[in-house]
Amino acid sequence: MEEIFIRRSIRKFTNQAVEPEKIDKLLRAAMQAPSAANQQAWEFIVVQDKARLEQMAETSPYAKHLADSAVTFVLLADESKMKVPTGWEQDMGAAAENLLLEAVHLGLGGVWLGVATADFVTENVRSLFALPENIRPFAMISVGYPDGQKNQFVDRYQAERVHYEKW
Ligand SMILES: Cc1cc2nc3c(=O)[nH]c(=O)nc-3n(C[C@H](O)[C@H](O)[C@H](O)COP(=O)(O)O)c2cc1C
Repeated sequence: MEEIFIRRSIRKFTNQAVEPEKIDKLLRAAMQAPSAANQQAWEFIVVQDKARLEQMAETSPYAKHLADSAVTFVLLADESKMKVPTGWEQDMGAAAENLLLEAVHLGLGGVWLGVATADFVTENVRSLFALPENIRPFAMISVGYPDGQKNQFVDRYQAERVHYEKW
């Protein structure tokens, strides 16, 4: 699939808004992901408000790009919906990648910002959105029309990482 090979992290966006139909497609793509025991514990906050995006950009030292995104999706998981709690991060990772690939497909660019990867970012996001205890923030994915940067192929194939039949 072409989108897998050309996807890049895009951190510079024009000020063009992302159409509501495209936002809908991105959410549908995320929720189409596989999940442990089909638990689908995901929840999403969709943010387009500039002032809010600026606050979100302060939640991590690596989130500056977020302020200028057209839309940022906060990916969350509801503990109360988890049948296999140990699978939650895998589930959310699959949903995140689906969203990013659909963005490429729609002519958009996006970037994954780790939230569950650092406790202090988790706490910042938790308090900014006043999340209930059972809601775990996973990542924030910023999307928009790329400005300057573009999705393009970079070859990362490493033949020596592939092991046939045995280690
Ligand atoms: C778990 C995870 C956390 C990430 N966190 C950040 C982040 O905090 N800020 C950022 O700008 N990019 C972040 N990225 C994007 C990576 O930096 C990027 O995917 C990587 O450098 C490879 O580049 P590519 O996406 O263009 O292939 C994250 C990606 C993943 C998968």
